[in-house]
Amino acid sequence: VAAGGLAWRAVDQGVVGGPGELDAAWREWNAGGQSGALALVAAGVLASSPHNTQPWLFRVSERRIDLHAVPERHLGAFDPFRREMHIGLGCAVENMVRAASLHGFSTDVTLAPSTNDPTHVARLDLAAAEPTRDPLAAQIGRRHTDRGRYDARPVGADVLARLSGLATEPDVRLMLLDAADPRAKAFGEATIAATEHIVADEDMLRWSKAWTRHDRDALLRRRDGLFIDGMGLSPLMATAAKMIPDQDAATEGRYWLAMTRDLHVPSAAAFGLILVRDVHDLAASLKAGRLWQALHLAGTEAGLAMQPLNQLPEMIDRDRELKREPQAARDAAAIVGTDGWLPTFGFRLGWPTRQAPASPRRTVREVVAA
Ligand SMILES: Cc1cc2nc3c(=O)[nH]c(=O)nc-3n(C[C@H](O)[C@H](O)[C@H](O)COP(=O)(O)O)c2cc1C
Repeated sequence: VAAGGLAWRAVDQGVVGGPGELDAAWREWNAGGQSGALALVAAGVLASSPHNTQPWLFRVSERRIDLHAVPERHLGAFDPFRREMHIGLGCAVENMVRAASLHGFSTDVTLAPSTNDPTHVARLDLAAAEPTRDPLAAQIGRRHTDRGRYDARPVGADVLARLSGLATEPDVRLMLLDAADPRAKAFGEATIAATEHIVADEDMLRWSKAWTRHDRDALLRRRDGLFIDGMGLSPLMATAAKMIPDQDAATEGRYWLAMTRDLHVPSAAAFGLILVRDVHDLAASLKAGRLWQALHLAGTEAGLAMQPLNQLPEMIDRDRELKREPQAARDAAAIVGTDGWLPTFGFRLGWPTRQAPASPRRTVREVVAA
């Protein structure tokens, strides 16, 4: 009976029986079947977003796409000022702009186009143009967050220069730190310290848990949130994690802290920080998101593995929300300098040791306004 029960649970949790329809949106884009403005939306939905919240709604006409935030798809105490939500929306803008070149459009992007509607975060006006082969557009369906162990052998100066060249906006800076740089060490330590604070914060853990899907049925139904296969566990551990009952938020927090301390930080070849002057200026967040998405596409093209590591910026927000001593902001200033720039996004990079999986997505049909 026990063996039978276990087998049922294995099927229930998708350990056997294939990936179901979780990757439909990826297949949709990779098959290249769409045309017109909807083809751009098919790229937009594959963008990175915090905890895979996919906080987007698209209004589409023949020559225009209006991107709206969906305020309910938020991370609560993890993102009290919706800074990360807007970074994710910026990621969707970048994917759409990159996809436009493939599909014979030029784009004119207006950020925050409506003074009376704060959910209206971007407008893309499309005009016919010769299709071009943007090498980053070719990576849209291949880019995946890699939370596994990296091979930390150094990344060549040419690759780092290619990444640095993507930061073209005057009000958004990129700082890349080789793992041997003392500031990289300081960023790693500050990230671990921030993770310790987060896992001691019940509210933050509760919100993280709300966007973590253990149950396969919920995952298939909602096609959002973090999922076990994307957590960077070994195949054996991932199978075990699916078999055991759902863990409480505190236990999940302890695993996350251990992964950050023992795997994510020590196996990085380099770290990156996206800096802005005002971390709560939502237009700056949209631009930072565009840069992160472009960096991840370029890293994918170069064969790199990448993972956002945002515990430090998240703690800057949380300290401010709770009107506490700005300890995280001080830690950040010690790394990036005190001339008024602060990190709004952190990440690590290195060489992959395994293929990272495609994370679940809602498809175009579900995110286009009727
Ligand atoms: C603003 C923002 C913050 C993020 N922070 C983290 C993070 O701290 N740690 C992490 O592992 N992933 C982080 N991510 C990555 C998302 O979880 C990821 O993009 C999402 O789950 C979808 O997966 P994909 O990137 O593989 O498509 C972040 C993404 C964004 C846009």
